[in-house]
Amino acid sequence: LRVGVLASGRGSNLQSLIDQSLAGKIDAQIVLVASNKADAGALDKAREAGIATRVLDHRNFGSREEFDGAMVAALREAGVELVLLAGFMRLLSPVFLDAFPQRIMNIHPALLPAFPGLNVQRQALEYGARFSGCTVHFVDGGLDTGPIIIQAAVPILENDTEESLAARILVEEHRIYPRAVQLFAEKRLRIEGRRVRIEPEAD
Ligand code: GRF
Repeated sequence: LRVGVLASGRGSNLQSLIDQSLAGKIDAQIVLVASNKADAGALDKAREAGIATRVLDHRNFGSREEFDGAMVAALREAGVELVLLAGFMRLLSPVFLDAFPQRIMNIHPALLPAFPGLNVQRQALEYGARFSGCTVHFVDGGLDTGPIIIQAAVPILENDTEESLAARILVEEHRIYPRAVQLFAEKRLRIEGRRVRIEPEAD
């Protein structure tokens, strides 16, 4: 499975995907890492692993659609079959969504539909939630709204800060994102309306 990863930041989820791919634990090969930020740590991690990179600065494009069109062209050129958003801080327009129908995933550091958007650890702490976690979902036109593939929960502890909670959640992110990719690679994900059915393992 040829995978493209879009990241705007540090790239720890990218790194876990690279590691699992190189270890042969997922049947996926990351063929392109693209970013809208030239200084994204994710680009360094990709280069270190010998993966092709592209920087497309959204500020150089006249509209979201033009930017998305350029991203789609880069992903298609690389023969990408599954697009993974990993800390990619841009909403996708229909130009992008229609180019990869049911073939774009995102990871979000909360238990959706609770706490979509930004500053989610702060949101969860301020709300007084006892648990949070992370969600891998297919991407649709909304903000963190597409069909849920996998979630993992973690407790929120009395003395948690945004940082300590984020770190506890990140451990789970690094576990479930590769898992979701592997389920996709095994063609075991069926989208049925809002719900994703996971087919049993073939024997
Ligand atoms: C992660 O918390 C992810 O859930 C969110 O952005 C963060 C990206 O972290 N969407 P990294 O760049 O993968 O380290």
